[in-house]
Amino acid sequence: MRSNSYEKYYGITTFGESHGKVIGVVIEDVKPGIEFPLERIRNALNKRKPGKGTFSSARKEKDELQILSGVFDGKTTGMPICLIVYNEDARSKDYEHLKDLFRPGHADFSYFKKFKIYDHRGGGRASGRETISRVAASGLVENILKDIQINIYPVKIGKFETTQTDLSFQNELSWRDKTNYKNLIEYLNNIKNEGNSIGGIVEVKITNIPAGLGDPVFEKLDANLAKAILSIGAVKGIEFGDGFCFAALKGDEANDQMNKKGFITNHNGGIIGGISTGNDLIFRFAVKPTPSINITQKTVTKDNKEVEFKSHGRHDICIIPRIIPVAEAMIKLVLSDAISHQKLISNENLQLSDYREAIDKIDEDILTALGRRQKISELIGKVKRENKIQIEDKEREEELLTRLKQKAKLWNIDESLVTNIWNNILSESKKRQ
Ligand SMILES: Cc1cc2nc3c(=O)[nH]c(=O)nc-3n(C[C@H](O)[C@H](O)[C@H](O)COP(=O)(O)O)c2cc1C
Repeated sequence: MRSNSYEKYYGITTFGESHGKVIGVVIEDVKPGIEFPLERIRNALNKRKPGKGTFSSARKEKDELQILSGVFDGKTTGMPICLIVYNEDARSKDYEHLKDLFRPGHADFSYFKKFKIYDHRGGGRASGRETISRVAASGLVENILKDIQINIYPVKIGKFETTQTDLSFQNELSWRDKTNYKNLIEYLNNIKNEGNSIGGIVEVKITNIPAGLGDPVFEKLDANLAKAILSIGAVKGIEFGDGFCFAALKGDEANDQMNKKGFITNHNGGIIGGISTGNDLIFRFAVKPTPSINITQKTVTKDNKEVEFKSHGRHDICIIPRIIPVAEAMIKLVLSDAISHQKLISNENLQLSDYREAIDKIDEDILTALGRRQKISELIGKVKRENKIQIEDKEREEELLTRLKQKAKLWNIDESLVTNIWNNILSESKKRQ
């Protein structure tokens, strides 16, 4: 599984562990000749950096961006762009006592069960540092978003909820309610003194978003946003518009009725049928309390001995301020993708380069599918050999070709072309079996 890649219009692959040498990203399919937005990426990385607020981890990292490839004379070359930052304040010794046990709330146990080996230092690949790569990549697609405005702020932290949203009220938590901010800080300080942590709910409000973004059925805008947001560590739930409150509504209360000016309400959060309606896009996601806490907890070692464990490392009391820039980055990647796809079907201002971009993308998809087919074909060969089943199956081959020819008719593809492609694929597969 290519689980480290986000294979969309702008393909990105992230790499690196919390205590490895570097964290980085490879970005493909960026058009050549674009001014590389160094300052924009630097600013985004600065927003994500740890060690800035009272409630965030004390790990001090410069997170200085290094460009390894794909940029020449300040412009993109159309080649894969590789960006890295060095891990400089990793203090791996802090994690030595964790080598053989599974920290509660962390991915140690599940990684161990899956891979039988994992880098325990600082969470390895499950660390919040992995998100540097996503933030860096999002800087490159930002210009595609044009006037779209993304606002992200917590609406609940522990027992505190916002009663108003004053976007001009700026603070380290992005808390938008002046009326209870002081009490919230006192509450968080108490949690810090206990050595504990706390979770919350974050709201996203995206304005100036055009109608028509997103696709039916598996590429729904809400589905893609949900996957992108849930791929961020510590995010445990997401709801769009009225979300789980829909359960208590009747149809006439939940439907977004319309008049000449547009939608009268926005219960659906700006997406219906997986496609944006032009209403503000609104969703909320839940963030769990930081797993690392300075409180004794029960766990087991790799050889299943029960032990008590207390974290001594540095951690955030509430991860929400750290997650906000990451959520923003993921939203930018999803929206820029949807906008780029929409441009291709809406025939607006399309130029030769746009068509070429689209066709290159399709060719790449065909190659990726072929690569996957070859791998599966090798596995089929292995299973057949192990079970002493004859490799060649003429009847199945004929059956498949007939089915493919029927499909080809729907797309107006010549029968002989399908037969040629199929015969080539098949003879290649046989060589590998
Ligand atoms: C930006 C960011 C920073 C994080 N910082 C910490 C941290 O300081 N301490 C910690 O225990 N977990 C931290 N986490 C959360 C863990 O990475 C995450 O909870 C853990 O890997 C388990 O995965 P899950 O919660 O998604 O199931 C952070 C996550 C993100 C996205």
